[in-house]
This record gives sequence, structure tokens and C-alpha cells, in this order.
Amino acid sequence: MSSNKISAKIDLKDNAYEVIVSKGILNDCGHYISNLGIGNKCAIISDSNVAPLYASKVSESLANNNIKSELIVVDAGESSKSLESVEKICRKMIETGHDRHVFVIALGGGVIGDLAGLVASVFYRGVPFIQIPTTIVSQVDSAVGGKTGVNTPEGKNLIGSFYHPKIVITDTLTLSSLPEREFNEGFAEVIKHAAIRDKSMFEDIMSVEGYENLDELILRNVEIKARIVEQDEKELSGLRAHLNYGHTIGHAIETAGGYGKFLHGEAISLGLIGANKISSQKSNLSD
Ligand SMILES: NC(=O)c1ccc[n+]([C@@H]2O[C@H](COP(=O)([O-])OP(=O)(O)OC[C@H]3O[C@@H](n4cnc5c(N)ncnc54)[C@H](O)[C@@H]3O)[C@@H](O)[C@H]2O)c1
Repeated sequence: MSSNKISAKIDLKDNAYEVIVSKGILNDCGHYISNLGIGNKCAIISDSNVAPLYASKVSESLANNNIKSELIVVDAGESSKSLESVEKICRKMIETGHDRHVFVIALGGGVIGDLAGLVASVFYRGVPFIQIPTTIVSQVDSAVGGKTGVNTPEGKNLIGSFYHPKIVITDTLTLSSLPEREFNEGFAEVIKHAAIRDKSMFEDIMSVEGYENLDELILRNVEIKARIVEQDEKELSGLRAHLNYGHTIGHAIETAGGYGKFLHGEAISLGLIGANKISSQKSNLSD
């Protein structure tokens, strides 16, 4: 059984969806997915670290709700966010007999969410998509907002689409298996959200040693992103670009590191520092 669930609505005109946050909700995910009425066949896309930990829980819950699933696993890490992976996954789905009646579940961190989202947006010109994020980065940020993408040697996320999930199911218990480095990197996006929109969260982060209730912190971050995305879904007015704070330099650092040296959040932390330095120099602020 899952603990009390809390939720937020991403209120987009044609693509509204819910983000549900609860400890243990993975055991009930089939129930929420079946309620969407998007079919009874799916491909679960996950990575080599996450699949052994959580894929059977997800597929059992789906089976209990009469949904058949096939698991597709890619190597863990940023290097799987490539067009080659998109092609491999799509061809595997075709070989398995999937067609436009399938839906796609992303089970993993931001790499899997970005990759599986792109697969869902191009497979048979678009099939329904569900996010089950398992890292801090993906739970507070990448699972919400509909940006999918893959990297090329020329740069990060240069090929992608806007494609929203039908639901985001966030089980904060999955964070307990995250290695310390991956847990910590996620706070770069939390600090980014706090700095652009929530002074009190920024002050909390500076003073709190450890979080008792990550569910609420995660939902608070989702709400910040949701309110921005609702006003500028496709990054046209410039508002959504606030969410890219630290990302110009951060992405350059990730690319220069060959997508393996720095974790996303680590690169973004350096990017935030760089952006702050440039901005204080330009406006003649003291340190
Ligand atoms: N689409 C967007 O709006 C958006 C926003 C922010 C970041 N991103 C993208 O997200 C990616 C970074 O995401 P990330 O930091 O989650 O990286 P990730 O998906 O690579 O996950 C980090 C590591 O943790 C492992 N892992 C994931 N969940 C686990 C769990 N519960 N237990 C144990 N291990 C687990 C993964 O296998 C991986 O090794 C980048 O590619 C970035 O560009 C996208």
C-alpha cells in the first residue's frame, strides 16, 4: 500500500495531466494507468540500474490491472540518450509486434524520461506516454513539462520534441536506492527552482540538514515548474527560459566532459555559479 498521496495538476489547454507523489505508489501504478483508458499493451523503457530494482513491481501492478508489458532496457547513463537508442528501441517494439495501440512507460531518471518520451512521440507518429521518475532530477524537474530529447556530439538535447505524459507517477521510496552522488546532484535543480521562484524554499535548503518529507519538497518543485510551463509551454515568450538558469554553461560542461564525466546536476551546479559570476560582473555587483 502507498502512503497518503499528494498531487498537482499541470493545466495545459490540450495536454492537462496529473503528477501524483506518494511513497510506495509503484505497487498501485497499474490502477492509475488503467484508469487513463489508453490501452492494455505497453513497453516499459528503463535502464540497467533501475530495471532490476523496480521493473517487476511495475509490470506486476500492470498485470493485476490486465495490462501486458514488455521491458526494454538500455545501458544506464547519459550516453544512452542518443538517436541510435531511439532507433534500437523503436525497432525492438516493431519486432515485438507493437503498433499504434501501444503506450510507453519511462521508468528511470531524466535520461530515460527524455529518451522514452522521444520514442513515444515518434513511434507510429505518437503513442501515449507515462513518466515514472526515479531520481530527484526527474521527480522535481524533467518528468514535468514535456521536453524530450537526445544528445549529439555537437551538443545536449539538440534533437527532441515537446510531448507531454498522460500522467506522472512519483514514488519517493525509489529515492532510497539512489547512490549518494546521484541523490546530491538532484538538488541543483531544486536550488535552481528556489532561486528563480521560491525565496523561502531557498532559505530552507540553506538551513536544513536532511529532509524528513521529500514528498512535499518534490511537489513544491513540480508546482513551480508547472506554473511556468502553463504560461509558456513551448518556450516562446521567454518565461520558460527562466528554467534554463545555469544550463547554458552547464550543458557546455556536460558536452565537454563527453556526457560521462559530470552528472547533469553537477554540471548545472557549476553552470549556476558561472551564470551568477557573469551576471554580477555585468551589473558591477560586489561578491
Ligand atoms: N526534459 C527536461 O525538462 C529535463 C530537465 C532536467 C534534466 N533533464 C535531463 O535529465 C538527465 C539527467 O537526469 P538524472 O540526473 O535523473 O540522470 P539519470 O537518468 O542518468 O540517472 C542517474 C543515475 O541514477 C541511476 N538511477 C536512477 N534511478 C535510480 C534509483 N531509484 N535507484 C538507483 N539508481 C537509480 C541511473 O541508472 C543513473 O545511473 C539529463 O540528460 C538532463 O538533460 C531533462
